[in-house]
Amino acid sequence: MEIQLWREILNPYELAVKELTVKFNHLIKEHRQLDIYCPIEQVTGRVKSINSILEKMQRKNITWGNMEVQVEDIAGMRIICQFYEDIEKVVEIIRNRSDMAVKYEKDYITHMKESGYRSYHMIVYYNVETFQGTKQIQVEFQIRTLAMNFWATIEHSLQYKYKGNMPEHLTQRLSKAADAIIALDREMSSVRSEVMDAQNSSQM
Ligand code: GTP
Ligand code: MG
Repeated sequence: MEIQLWREILNPYELAVKELTVKFNHLIKEHRQLDIYCPIEQVTGRVKSINSILEKMQRKNITWGNMEVQVEDIAGMRIICQFYEDIEKVVEIIRNRSDMAVKYEKDYITHMKESGYRSYHMIVYYNVETFQGTKQIQVEFQIRTLAMNFWATIEHSLQYKYKGNMPEHLTQRLSKAADAIIALDREMSSVRSEVMDAQNSSQM
């Protein structure tokens, strides 16, 4: 397909990713100004590459007519939290926003994927204003802790090297490492709650 046509298709998604990055960074800033703890540590966004879109269409037998409906992650936002408990707060923030509507959610936190992958996913509808009027697009949110992100980032880059055919013993080691991530997130939350208890009792 022509590059010009791709540009036309991807333009609204680029706009959405830019807008949402600004909006979520502003949330972080508001918290900082009010000196309130922010459940969002960091936000990033990306538009799926043309090659990845084509690869997904092939893998899932998606036709051109259905591309924008079935490739739900053309626009992707990743929200990173410090603590496990922050994730549900971010999920609530997204559910309650008036500028997006949730299509569905996937909880890979309580239901870890076989690989060991953990993250909370939300597919939302979001409107962007283009010169042709309002266009509703889909955006995939991935919400996870710093530790979960550490695991997912490295696992993804290793999978990429093996093109999906990673030897079983390495898959097993990554799965073990995922268990260590769960333990680490728990320990960090526990340390945090002890710190907060100490703070609260010193204020009494
Ligand atoms: P994709 O076609 O890969 O997008 O998957 P899907 O549409 O069947 O949905 P799924 O919820 O399985 O995955 C959505 C996204 O989550 C992926 O594109 C990845 O970014 C991420 N993801 C899912 N599983 C894994 C995993 O095992 N490891 C890593 N690193 N990321 C994963
Ligand atoms: Mg994807």
